[in-house]
Parts: sequence; C-alpha cells; structure tokens
Amino acid sequence: MESVNEIKDKIRRRFVKVATCPTAPQRHPHGPASAKKLGYDPAEIDGLPAVVVESFAGVGNPLGLHPVRPGDTVVDIGCGAGVDSILAAHKVGPSGRVVGVDMTAEMVEKATANARVAGVPNAEFHQGEADHLPVGDGTADVVISNGVFNLCLDKPKVLAEVYRVLRPGGRLQMADILLGETVTDDAVEAKGAWSD
Ligand SMILES: C[S@@+](CC[C@H](N)C(=O)[O-])C[C@H]1O[C@@H](n2cnc3c(N)ncnc32)[C@H](O)[C@@H]1O
Repeated sequence: MESVNEIKDKIRRRFVKVATCPTAPQRHPHGPASAKKLGYDPAEIDGLPAVVVESFAGVGNPLGLHPVRPGDTVVDIGCGAGVDSILAAHKVGPSGRVVGVDMTAEMVEKATANARVAGVPNAEFHQGEADHLPVGDGTADVVISNGVFNLCLDKPKVLAEVYRVLRPGGRLQMADILLGETVTDDAVEAKGAWSD
C-alpha cells in the first residue's frame, strides 16, 4: 500500500502538470469548455482572461449553490489556478476578501498571477493543506471547494478545519466527486487509485 507521502506526491505532480501544461492531454476535463459544461455562466467565463481559466479543474460550480454577499470573507480550499476565488472576489467586492489555499506551489503561483491579470486586489493565495488551513479561527463567512475533498486523505479532519475557520452561521459550498457504490479494500489499495 502506498504511504501518505507517496499519495500526496502523486496528487501534487498531477496538479503541477495542470498548472504548468494546461494544453497537454489530461485525464480529466479542464479549462473554459469544462467550466461552461458544469454550469458556470458562459459570459462570466468568457469575461476572464484566457490564462485564468486554462487550468480550471473543478467538477461543479460551488458559487452557484448560494450567492455570496458583498463584504463576505470567502476561503477557497484547493483553489487551484484561482477561477472560483477570482469570481468570488468579484462578488464580495472591495469590502470583502478571498483567501485561496492550495498544497501545490505552482497552483498558488499561478492563482496569484491570475488575480493580478484579472485585476482583482482582494484575493490572496497561500500554500497549505486542507487539513491544516493557514486561516484563523472563525474568520470565514463562506468556505468553497471544488474537486478537492476526493483528493484529501483524512476527510473528517478537513471538515473539522472547515468548521474551525467558519464564523457561526457561515456555510460550506462544495462540489465534488461521489461514488455511488461501496469502495472495496482492493480498490483502495490499487496503486494510483487516489490520483491517476
Ligand atoms: C481538481 S483540482 C481543482 C482546482 C480548483 N478548485 C478548480 O476548480 O480549478 C484540485 C486542487 O486541489 C489541490 N489539492 C489537492 N489535495 C489538496 C490538499 N490536501 N490540500 C490543499 N490542496 C489540495 C490540488 O493541488 C489542485 O489544485
């Protein structure tokens, strides 16, 4: 069975590729066409610079689940290249703030550059892990996440972190991959099952 570090390294390598070679063939849909298929407003996606959306790798539209309000603080777990963070930054406006967290340095670098290109001053990005967020207690009105929980090895710990950073009355809006069938031990042990 692979160690936790081996699994994390595989996940990291996979998303370094999405960040740095978005036009190379990937094993999952990504980029602007995928975002539009997942229910994002096409005008909103087309309104972003191409470099911002090329590494989008989400599996749904968490911001579509409930409106975020002007002035809100939003934390984006596994923000990737920052599409949801940048869209959230537009919605929360100058009195609001968005904090994107991703474990892959290349994604954090790209999200930071993307926010600059998109002219968004109220989004910041930090390298960190979902089960150990670099975010203070009770500081977020909304936590969003898109396609990340399925990659997290200790899901209860991630949910505990979400609970820790949310203000009372805050909410989690997430999109992820769910399996309809029981996952067998063999499948869990199968090499690459986590990240390939
Ligand atoms: C499927 S991509 C989605 C990226 C982004 N949310 C989007 O919609 O484009 C998953 C992202 O989660 C990050 N990630 C995976 N496991 C993580 C973890 N345990 N903590 C923080 N980030 C993680 C990856 O580096 C990658 O950028």
